[in-house]
Parts: sequence; C-alpha cells; structure tokens
Amino acid sequence: MGKITIAIDGYSSTGKSTIAKQLAKALGYVYVDTGAMYRAVTLFAMRNGFIAEQHKDVAALENSLKEIELDFHYNKELGFSEMYLNSENVEKEIRTLEVSQYVSSIAEIEAVRIKLVAMQQKMGKAKGIVMDGRDIGTVVFPDAELKIFMSASPEKRAYRRYKELLDKGEEVDYDEVLKNVLHRDAVDSNREFSPLRKAEDAIEFDNSDMGLEEQFERMYNFSLRIIAKQKDS
Ligand code: DC
Repeated sequence: MGKITIAIDGYSSTGKSTIAKQLAKALGYVYVDTGAMYRAVTLFAMRNGFIAEQHKDVAALENSLKEIELDFHYNKELGFSEMYLNSENVEKEIRTLEVSQYVSSIAEIEAVRIKLVAMQQKMGKAKGIVMDGRDIGTVVFPDAELKIFMSASPEKRAYRRYKELLDKGEEVDYDEVLKNVLHRDAVDSNREFSPLRKAEDAIEFDNSDMGLEEQFERMYNFSLRIIAKQKDS
C-alpha cells in the first residue's frame, strides 16, 4: 500500500549504499546495490582472463554472459543482502581495490548493462525498493517517485574509501585511492552507454560536510512525504 521506488545515484564513495541501506530498513523496503552486480561481473571477467592490465576481451565476456548468474541473499546477522556469483558468496572478493580498478571498464560494455538493467527492473517491479547505482533514476527506473543524486568532493570520497579499506585490513595508499576515485568518475561520466548524470527531476545532495544522521533524517523525511502523497492520490 502506497509503496514507492527510490532511486539513489551518484559518484563513487558518496555513501550511497550506507544511506540506501538505512532507508530501506526504516521503510521496510528491499535494498539493491547495483554496483555489487557490476563488481560481480568484473570478478567473473578477471577470473576468466577477460580483463587484466592492458587486456580486455569484450567479445569473450559477451559470449559468456549467459553463464553468469547473480543473486542477492539476505544475511540476517549482517542485516543486508550479500552478492552471489554462480551460487558463491563473493561479497568480500568484489570489494577489493583490484575489482574497483577494472569495474568501470566492464560497466561501460553495452551488453553487460543490458543484462543487468533487465535484472534490476525485474527486481523493482513490485516497488517498495531502494536501489543505488549510477543510472537508476535515468535508465532503470525513470519513473521512480523519489530520485536522489549524491555528490561530495573527490578528496572526501577518497578519504572515506581509504578508511573503509584500511578497516578491512587491506594495505592501501591514499593517493592511489584518490586516483582510482577520479578515474572512475571520468569513465562513469563519459562512457557512451548510460553515463552517470543527474536525472532532471532528482534532488541533488552534496554530503561533503554532512553527517550520516542528518543525511538519513533528510532522506527519510523526503520519502515519508512522497509516500503520504501516494496514499492521498
Ligand atoms: O557503487 P560502486 O562503486 O560499487 O560501483 C562500482 C562501479 O560500477 C562503478 O565504477 C560504476 C559501475 N556502476 C554502473 O555503471 N552502474 C550502476 N548502476 C552501478 C554501478
């Protein structure tokens, strides 16, 4: 009753998934991290030798796309869904800097986008969903009732990502993370198929200097207002 679709797009490491997860939980909605899906396809491509430094075999990946099965399984203890690639839990493997380095290059392949967008549209058919990514408000759900476009300065985003990786015990260098953030911004924004851009009707949200609690409060209030309107109409 009165369920809506919430699309959250924006640059990498703007904290989209943290907020989207909280929002989904508070509203009793399903949360879908579409970045995880592009990361899982990237991991598949790496493992099969379709992508490496100075090497990218688009045709081979396209031919193997039908072998890729992606699922989300809800983990009760963690309170969110984990990514499965051909029945294997790859939640950890898809978050490494190595996958981050190749993912933009995989996400620009049209056939990959067509496959994943179709899956995402199917997941959101019943509404009551919070989905985050790069093209959710523009391509996946252009009719979403609430669209948010998140941004923050590259330095702030790199710092957040750097801390996240350190906390996970990865050996990382801040400058390398910043380079990766800037590189992904450039590829994501300039690719030919569904580049990252703000949907005209999206609310822009710069969280460079905003704490998590304030962000959540604001988004939760936006959502409640729109849900209430749905019920009235
Ligand atoms: O949100 P993330 O950093 O996990 O996303 C990983 C990459 O996947 C990112 O560089 C861009 C790409 N992506 C995309 O092209 N479209 C989406 N809907 C989600 C992610």
